[in-house]
Amino acid sequence: MLELRDLNTFYGKSHILQGITLDVQEGEIVCLLGRNGVGKSTTLKSIMGLVASQKGTIHFQGREIQNKRPDAIACMGISYIPEDRRIFTRLSVKENLMIGTSSAVNMTKSQKEEMLEKAYMYFPILKEKESQGGGYLSGGQQQMLAIARGLMCDPKLVLLDEPFEGLAPVVIWELIDIIRKLCESEKMTLLLVEQKAALALKMSDRGYVLEKGLVKCEGTVQFLSESEEVRERCGL
Ligand SMILES: Nc1ncnc2c1ncn2[C@@H]1O[C@H](COP(=O)(O)OP(=O)(O)O)[C@@H](O)[C@H]1O
Ligand SMILES: [Mg+2]
Repeated sequence: MLELRDLNTFYGKSHILQGITLDVQEGEIVCLLGRNGVGKSTTLKSIMGLVASQKGTIHFQGREIQNKRPDAIACMGISYIPEDRRIFTRLSVKENLMIGTSSAVNMTKSQKEEMLEKAYMYFPILKEKESQGGGYLSGGQQQMLAIARGLMCDPKLVLLDEPFEGLAPVVIWELIDIIRKLCESEKMTLLLVEQKAALALKMSDRGYVLEKGLVKCEGTVQFLSESEEVRERCGL
């Protein structure tokens, strides 16, 4: 479904992604692991067209998408949930959610309502707080809102950046549970960036470990969980 081949991205003169090659098949949960600063977020931003890549290719469902505009990429069915969550603090929970439908240009009003009901089904706390300002939510609730909003456009592929950052373990487990359910019931395809490798491996099918802008190792979660190299590189 998603294919990156020899992707190279620079920030000015800094050569950040030095030839990333990876695949995500439909229905898979694939994690992108590695320590801080290795290029995980830059990979997602490159896929989304938020930073320009200078060399290599990105295909989504067989179509070349590298360096297309982010809004065009979103309209093709890729949803990007950034690590800083970007909740609109002055808008209500419901308004935040409805903003998530803006890239789904063909969605009717009743389909949007259906998506909202579905979001509330997976994240009941958001229903309870639907008229509250986004700024009044706890960190965990804001992350739930960010994820739920990212799903409102009914995406084919979700790019999720460090969803567990700064959250308490009990909230993390609740989120993992919901994400697993979403992947099973909604057949969600997910590319998950996570520094907490142990958690990411618990919920993924396959993974890639980055180091200095390159894929250092890849494989099934079983292979990665048992790999000494992964333990070292991800601090497992
Ligand atoms: N906007 C930017 N301008 C310049 N350098 C950046 C920018 N964003 C990230 N970097 C640098 O690129 C490298 C990779 O960053 P990033 O992809 O955010 O890493 P990760 O998500 O794996 O922690 C880091 O060295 C970071 O300092
Ligand atoms: Mg990052």
